Amino acid sequence: MDKEVLNIVDRRTGAAYDLPFFKGAIRAMDLRQIKTGPEDFGVMTYDPAFLNTASCQSAITFIDGDKGILRYRGYPVEQLAENCTFLEVAYLLLNGELPTEAELKEWVESITRHTMLHETSKKFLEGFRYNAHPMGMFISTVAALSTVYPEARHVLDPEVRRLQIRRLIGKVPTIAAYTYRHSLGFPYVYPDNDLSYAENFMNMLWKMVEPKYTANPVLARALDILFILHADHEQNCSTNAMRAVGSSQADPFLSTSAACAALSGPLHGGANEEVLKMLDVIGSKDKIPAYIDKVKAGEFKLMGFGHRVYKNYDPRARIIKWAAESVFEVTGRNAKLDIALELERIALEDDYFVKRKLYPNVDFYSGIIYQAMGFKPEMFTVLFAIPRTVGWLAQWQEMLCDAEQKIARPRQVYTGYEARDVVPMEKRGLTATSTTA
Ligand code: CMC
Repeated sequence: MDKEVLNIVDRRTGAAYDLPFFKGAIRAMDLRQIKTGPEDFGVMTYDPAFLNTASCQSAITFIDGDKGILRYRGYPVEQLAENCTFLEVAYLLLNGELPTEAELKEWVESITRHTMLHETSKKFLEGFRYNAHPMGMFISTVAALSTVYPEARHVLDPEVRRLQIRRLIGKVPTIAAYTYRHSLGFPYVYPDNDLSYAENFMNMLWKMVEPKYTANPVLARALDILFILHADHEQNCSTNAMRAVGSSQADPFLSTSAACAALSGPLHGGANEEVLKMLDVIGSKDKIPAYIDKVKAGEFKLMGFGHRVYKNYDPRARIIKWAAESVFEVTGRNAKLDIALELERIALEDDYFVKRKLYPNVDFYSGIIYQAMGFKPEMFTVLFAIPRTVGWLAQWQEMLCDAEQKIARPRQVYTGYEARDVVPMEKRGLTATSTTA
């Protein structure tokens, strides 16, 4: 007997089907042969929010949510954070292997060459209101790059893809820094190609009148580590948006902008900003129990807690907690850390969180470091989007090169009316079935 099949009996017809396993899954299309007759469409699966549906095969990132494991291309994220730079990790995610010294040199030089924004993009940014949210400016400006590089639409040409990937990775820190300067009313600072990726970003954020900006090496390294930890996370909401929009062969600037929009929501990358607001609301350690009671009563969620995949401590949160110590040695301790640590302690001992396997996620501690470094909470999600651009592009490229992928087009279970006739205006509102939209 072949053990690599799933045997299904359709009680409606008595027919039996053998569905072969494919890498531990069954192919949803194999279910379509299960029909009650020739007119029957065949069986579909119903899976709102993709709780149990693999939408692709991917060789980029591996997560074991129960064990709290995260690996990029097979390498544990802890080892990458300790031994590599963000641009090395970016190369790894995109190309599958860590670069040699010569490959890294060429890669860093080419990313550095693409850090400048076209002056029209800068003018575009100037048009935003003084109090525009940085994430809104970031999303729109990434999309606007599509107008500057119209050749980007040739997404099936590997050379075109290669160039746009480098452009995007080079330019996202510049756009991010410009949104920050815009919200402060400060003049924009041009990239400095002598500096590393993180140092140059800090230069564009914080350089004032000094002729040359020197980044604090501890803070630059901490930022680089944070970038590594945020670089990819397999098929989350924004990556799914990148793949879905990219599957229509939209250009990478527009697809990345769609992914950024997905990231901006408070349940995804926007959570880091919400964590800081939450810690402000709590205010002091003695108020934590009352706050937790409200969470348990369902009034709101504990931001920075819980994850669709991790049912154990998020490994990224562990590294961030560790990196925070080195940052605080430079900046002084952020008072919110004590509230966060106590909140974590109380939550992890509480039955509500234990039973539901709710642990701190990447967003719980990242905002505390960002704030200590001098960022306003509105910038936090933009800081997430910079490194995640690498993951989105790696996933986008993998999707375009996958012969099995087509335009993303889910099915639905229709629950609306059967066919009915349009009622003339004078008779509408008189029937019992009329509804408002
Ligand atoms: N606080 C309180 N209860 C929670 C929380 C939370 N943060 N997260 C989940 N729960 C409860 C939820 O109410 C549900 O309870 P019950 O079984 O009684 O209905 C149970 O835990 C299962 O939750 P779920 O909503 O089915 O889980 P999900 O996989 O759909 O949601 C999540 C995952 C991340 C959206 C959710 O945990 C959440 O909203 N967390 C707060 C926002 C957050 O920190 N987001 C950042 C995620 S990590 C980085 C990223 O992806 O960008």
